[in-house]
Amino acid sequence: MLPGDGGGNTAARDSIRALAPTTGLRRDFIWGVSTSSFQIEGATREDGRGPSVWDTRGQQGLIANHDTGDIACDHYHRYPKDIALMQRLGVQAYRFSVAWPRVLPHGRGAPNEPGLAFYDRLIDAILAAGIEPWLCLYHWDMPQAIDDLGGWTVRDSVGWFADYTALIANRYGDRVKRFATFNEPSIFTLFGHGFGDGENPVNADRMHRAIHHVNLAHGAAVDVLRTRVPASSIGCIHNYQPCLPSTPSDTLAAKLCDAYWNRVYPDPQCHGDYPPLLRAAIEPHMQPGDLARIQRPLDWFGLNHYGPSYFKADAGARFGFNFGGRPPGVKLTPIDWVMDPVAFRDTLLTVTRDYRLPVYVTENGMGSHDQLDAAGAMIDNERIAYLRRYISAMNDAANAGADIRGYFIWSLLDNFEWDSGYGVRFGLTYVDYPTQRRIPKASFHWYAYLIKNARQQ
Ligand code: FCB
Repeated sequence: MLPGDGGGNTAARDSIRALAPTTGLRRDFIWGVSTSSFQIEGATREDGRGPSVWDTRGQQGLIANHDTGDIACDHYHRYPKDIALMQRLGVQAYRFSVAWPRVLPHGRGAPNEPGLAFYDRLIDAILAAGIEPWLCLYHWDMPQAIDDLGGWTVRDSVGWFADYTALIANRYGDRVKRFATFNEPSIFTLFGHGFGDGENPVNADRMHRAIHHVNLAHGAAVDVLRTRVPASSIGCIHNYQPCLPSTPSDTLAAKLCDAYWNRVYPDPQCHGDYPPLLRAAIEPHMQPGDLARIQRPLDWFGLNHYGPSYFKADAGARFGFNFGGRPPGVKLTPIDWVMDPVAFRDTLLTVTRDYRLPVYVTENGMGSHDQLDAAGAMIDNERIAYLRRYISAMNDAANAGADIRGYFIWSLLDNFEWDSGYGVRFGLTYVDYPTQRRIPKASFHWYAYLIKNARQQ
């Protein structure tokens, strides 16, 4: 019997036993899990942490059910238990992010020693568990104080981010070698500037400025890390997925969306130029030499992937396109995201071909409205089926020539899921929020079993 399957549920047992093929993957393939600071840490007012833009959104009641990140998974206090969970999984790597406002409460200026000391303890504990820390500098929790000064829309943000990166590099660079500059920059710039709703072209302009500054901040951070952290391995993490037209007449809209969603960061970062469809919009915000500042040598491409999205032309929308209907027959996950493992395989091949970097899948997983069963267990067969199909597709992509080096599941724990709050669960571990009890789901045991098998091959 496998651990945790309770023994009573044959279907669950069979589901757990059926692994995905992994024989096409490299011998040094890395299996991991991902989280982010705001989504799990809680302790938002403790030990001198400053507010972030996501604290503000919570206070403004903009999150479903009026949820906030105040407690989240209380990882700030419970991290040793969470690392023990990772050891049980057998992961080789853990991707987490540093909360900028925890180490620099005002985003710049005087560092906050207790905040820095938290990440010392965390990193030391990860290393002591035999797991490699993968540190992401920015997973969306910008300090409110610098957002108030214009955030990414002002060019000063490049210097603020470089200084923050230097603080992190100097403090942790003796122990951390894997760094991601940004998590999904296209998502926070698109959605942070009103993707979907119409009116005001001035705001479209703000977004183009923000895109360019985030790209410059990426380049500046790479330079800081290269000079301060010997043997560092650096990438940027992109949410890259097919942007498909809802109907044949939406083809142009889907192409425009592809440029914004998929290409506006990796193209200048890897090829030194913006996608042709967006050049004219971004050019007014550029200064001589900027493209060279953005295109710094990288070690890997971070791919977050869940499924394709469909788009339609919408003359009333700010950028001329909007989410559109899906053709009949498209398979959906319980939270209505498209499930399409073939698109995952194709994306891995596209990214390998277009960017010529080793690829790490830094996020993949399935969201659901999981509820414990009568016995207090979480037999999430649907998630297992999703992961099995996606990992099989990754194996197919590797066999077809994609250069894939690792795979991180989103997420170790159920957590604060941005605008959806705690209503949506992506974890391999169920979190009972009132008690903060961690209950490994069936998918947790399945992944542990898969890693063990894959590493023995
Ligand atoms: C990604 C985010 C991550 C999480 C997953 C479900 O876009 O990077 O924080 O919300 O989606």
